[in-house]
Formats: sequence, C-alpha cells, structure tokens
Amino acid sequence: MTRYFSETASVEAVNGRMSPEAETRLTEVMASLVRHLHAFVKDVTLTEAEWETAIAFLTRTGQMCSDTRQEFILLSDVLGVSMLVDAVNNRKPAGSTPSTVFGPFHVDGVPERSMGSVISLDGVGEPCLFEGRVVDLDGRPISDALVDVWSDNADGFYDVQQPDIQPQHNNRGVFRTGADGRYWFTGIKPVSYPIPDDGPVGEMLGHLGRHPYRPAHMHFLVTAPGHQRLITHTFVAGDAYLDSDAVFGVKAPLIVEFERREGAGDEPLWRAAYDFVLPPVEAVTDTRQRAALDAKKSGNRGEAKH
Ligand code: BEZ
Ligand code: FE
Repeated sequence: MTRYFSETASVEAVNGRMSPEAETRLTEVMASLVRHLHAFVKDVTLTEAEWETAIAFLTRTGQMCSDTRQEFILLSDVLGVSMLVDAVNNRKPAGSTPSTVFGPFHVDGVPERSMGSVISLDGVGEPCLFEGRVVDLDGRPISDALVDVWSDNADGFYDVQQPDIQPQHNNRGVFRTGADGRYWFTGIKPVSYPIPDDGPVGEMLGHLGRHPYRPAHMHFLVTAPGHQRLITHTFVAGDAYLDSDAVFGVKAPLIVEFERREGAGDEPLWRAAYDFVLPPVEAVTDTRQRAALDAKKSGNRGEAKH
C-alpha cells in the first residue's frame, strides 16, 4: 500500500486509510467519491484561488439554509444531481408514469379535501379542472390512492413563499380516489416561475449564463396501498421553458395539452386530463437489486460472470 501522499498515488493514499472493518456501503461510496474528486482536481488543474472560491461558495450555500430554505438541494437540482438520483432509483417498468424532481415546496399534513374541491383559495388565476384516473399497469383503477397536489399561484409563488399574502394551503390539496380510481379538482393553470435565485445558487446560474426558470407545472405525489409511490408533475404544453427547465425535470410523457374551453359558463376555463400509472411495490426499481437479478439471470444462462 502507498505510504505517502503524492499526485500520482493520491487516491490510494486516501482510500487506503479506510479500515477493512468499516461499513461496506459507506466505504464503497466514499472511495468512489475520492476517486472522482481527485480526478476532477487533476482534470482542471484546480488553482488554489479556485479552491478557495469553491470553499467560500459552499460555506455561503450552507449559511443560506434555514427551516424554509434548502440551498444545498437547490444546488443539487441545478447541477442535475437530484434528477439523476431520481433516475437511478426509479427505473420503473414500461408503461409506468415517470417520476420527476420533488422540489422544496411540498407541505406535509395538508387536509384531505372532498373530491372535486377548489384548491385555489385566493381565487386568483385562470381556473383549471385537473382530472384523470390512478391505475395499475393493466389499466385497472386503484382505489384509496391519495393524490397530493400543489402548484404556484398566478404570480409564480407557492403559499409557503408568501405566508403574509396567500392563504395557508392555497393551491394545495389531498384527494382520495374511490373504486373507479378517478380524481378531479379545480386549481389554476400554473405559470412558469424562477426557482429561488437570491442566494449563491442563483449567483452561480448568473455566472454560467443560465436562467432560473421552471416551465409551468402542477406537482403530484400519488400513494396507494400495494403500489410504488409516485412523485411527479404535469407540465403545460407549449411553455417557453420546457426545453430549458432550470432543474432538468421535464420528461416528454409528462407534458400535457391544457384544453381551453371557450364559453365554459360556470365550468373552469381550462382542463388538464392525465392518468397516473403506478407499478406494484414488488416491481424491481432498485439499481442494486436489478444488477443482482441480471447477474443471476446471466449465471442461469451459463454466461461468463465478471
Ligand atoms: C419546484 O418545482 O417546486 C422546484 C423544484 C426544484 C427547485 C425549486 C423548485
Ligand atoms: Fe414547482
């Protein structure tokens, strides 16, 4: 084993210090992190001034965090890490509704509302009927699914960002499906908005020539007994930011035509229909489990193992 640290033997010097008795998943993750960090420093020949800038940036990122602001998650979001963690952990069977980034604006404990309720409590914005079904991979309705929804208001802010201006739980609701798996409620047609950009992450985006906007979307968290939890959005087709979402959350199957209903009378002006397809809990989505199964399968076929 390498005795002293050097540029060429840097990885071995650090990773060689870990005890063989240390927890295996932690040592696996840390060893890989060290390999990639050292490769990065060598790749760009990081200067001391740049290293100090990075430390100062991370320090400010931590200082920006509070009970209501998580700047590190925002950093992970704009670097595409949140979406990548989501991707490797949600390799769902074909036909399932894709997941996307959770975001910081979900609120626990929003009361269940009766199906069909209006969730826009301030009455501002263009009313929109959201409706569809929660179904399994065979298209069978799922009853007792909880459909937890949240969106920004007509000015592009969530209620928690404006506690003195918006009513609590404005544009939020939780709905429980019946035997037909259907859900429906009236919100507003969401608008595009910037992610919080008054901190170090916003500053970084500015330096990189990136805008902070997200395309208009409605958030959904769908849970149902015996089925995998789904965290997703529906995006408004035609939005100007669909191809440049600041947090890379857009997936083609999540883009929905919002239908404008002229002369709708008492009916909401817009309608957005979308069905959510949930795989069963036992469907394999975990990367390591899948790798183990694949290895077993190739072993069964008598192929060479590596
Ligand atoms: C959101 O869609 O609410 C969101 C997601 C990531 C970062 C900021 C906001
Ligand atoms: Fe959002």
